[in-house]
Amino acid sequence: MWVLLFLIGAAAVSAHLEDGAFDGQKVFRVIPQNDEQVEIINSLASNIQVDFWQPDSVTLVRPKTEVDFRVEADMSLEVEDLLKESGIEYTVLIDNLQAALDAQFDSKARSTSHSYEKYNSWEKIAAWTADIAAQNPDLVSRSVIGETYEGRPMYLLKVGKSGPNKKAIFMDCGFHAREWISPAFCQWFVKEAVETYGKDTVMTTLLNSLDFYVLPVVNIDGYVYTWTNNRMWRKTRSKNPGSLCIGTDPNRNFNAGWSTVGASKNPCDSTYCGSAPESEKETKALADFIQEHLSTIKAYLTIHSYSQLLLFPYSYTYELPSDYEELNSIAEAASKQLASLHNTKYNYGPGAKTIYPAAGGSDDWAYDQGIKYSFTFELRDTGRYGFALPESQIKPTCEETLLAVKYIANYVLEHLY
Ligand code: ARG
Ligand code: ZN
Repeated sequence: MWVLLFLIGAAAVSAHLEDGAFDGQKVFRVIPQNDEQVEIINSLASNIQVDFWQPDSVTLVRPKTEVDFRVEADMSLEVEDLLKESGIEYTVLIDNLQAALDAQFDSKARSTSHSYEKYNSWEKIAAWTADIAAQNPDLVSRSVIGETYEGRPMYLLKVGKSGPNKKAIFMDCGFHAREWISPAFCQWFVKEAVETYGKDTVMTTLLNSLDFYVLPVVNIDGYVYTWTNNRMWRKTRSKNPGSLCIGTDPNRNFNAGWSTVGASKNPCDSTYCGSAPESEKETKALADFIQEHLSTIKAYLTIHSYSQLLLFPYSYTYELPSDYEELNSIAEAASKQLASLHNTKYNYGPGAKTIYPAAGGSDDWAYDQGIKYSFTFELRDTGRYGFALPESQIKPTCEETLLAVKYIANYVLEHLY
C-alpha cells in the first residue's frame, strides 16, 4: 500500500479556464473505519492533490464519519486501486464532475437576465441589488459595507418597513465561493420578502417589526473566480506574503478561538485561517458592521452548503454555549419546519459535536459578541451533487430554507425583550 502511494507520486494539478476542466474528475465518498484508514487518507492527501468537499480539510477526517473528496482525472484510477487495496469501503459520488457541472444548468427559466431559479454571476447579482432596492424603496435599501480585496463593493440590503427602534436580523451568504446555492438563497429571501409583504401574515409582521440585513455574497472575489477560473474555489483571493498560494478561508478568519483548532496555518490549504483574525477585508467589513450595530442585531444567520445541517455554537470548543437548551430547541423546530415542505432531513446541533471542531467561524464570533441566536445553515444536498447542485433544486431548496428562516425570525421577534 505504501508502495502504491509512492507510485502515485506528487502531481501538480489545477483547474483551468477552458471548458471541460473537470472532465473525468471523480468525487469519492469513504468512511474510514479506524485510525489506520484515516492515516491512509492522510497519506493520499499528502501525495496527490485531493480536494476535500466534506469535511473541509484532511485534518478534519475522523474514523466512522463520511469523507467526500475530489481527485484529478488522471489520478482517479490509482486512487480507486488504493482504496480497494487497503480495504477502505468507498462509493463514487460523482463519476465525471464536468458532466455534473454541465448538468447544473438545467433550469427551465429561459431568460439570460437575472433569475431566482438560476445561478447568477456577480455582475447580475450586483445589478439586482440596485434594481430590487430601486423597485421597492419602502422595503429595501442598499448600502456598501466595504470593499473586497480586488476592490469590489460589498453590497448590503436592508429589508424591512421603516419604523422607530427596530431590532434586526443579519444574514449572509457566499462565504465559500463554490457553494453557489448559498447566494441563491439570499436573493430568494429578498424576493420573497418584497413579494409576500402585505400578503403573507408572518412575513408582513416580520418586516413591520424587524429589519433584515442581507449580505448576498461575502466572498465576492472568490465567487467571481468560480465563474471565471475555477468552479471549485473556496477561499478569498488575497495574496499571502511569502507564499505562492492564494486566499484565506473566511470562515476560519474570525476572532473566535482563531487558529486553535480545525483550521490550517498553511496558506496553501483550503482552511487557511489567514495571517491574523480579520486579516481579510471581507471578514473585517462584516465584523465591523456587526459591531457597529450590536445594539440592534439580535440574530445572525450564515448560509453555507452542503450537508443539510443547522449548526449553532460552539465550533471552536466542545463546550456547550450557555444558551444550549434554547438554541437546540429552536434548531429542532426550525429543521422540522424545513422538512415539512419536501421532507428534506436536516441534522442539527453545536458545530464541534455535530460535525467537527473548527475555530474562527463567524457564528461563534457573533455569539460571543452577545448575539444569542447564531446559526449556520448547510443547505442541500447530502452529496449526490454536492457543490454541483442543479439549478432545478434552487426553488425547492430556497422554499424549504425560507420556512426555517421565518421560523427563527419569528421566534426572535417573540423573544425580543
Ligand atoms: N462547513 C462549515 C465550515 O467549516 C461549517 C461551519 C460551522 N461553524 C464553524 N464555526 N466552524 O466553515
Ligand atoms: Zn461553507
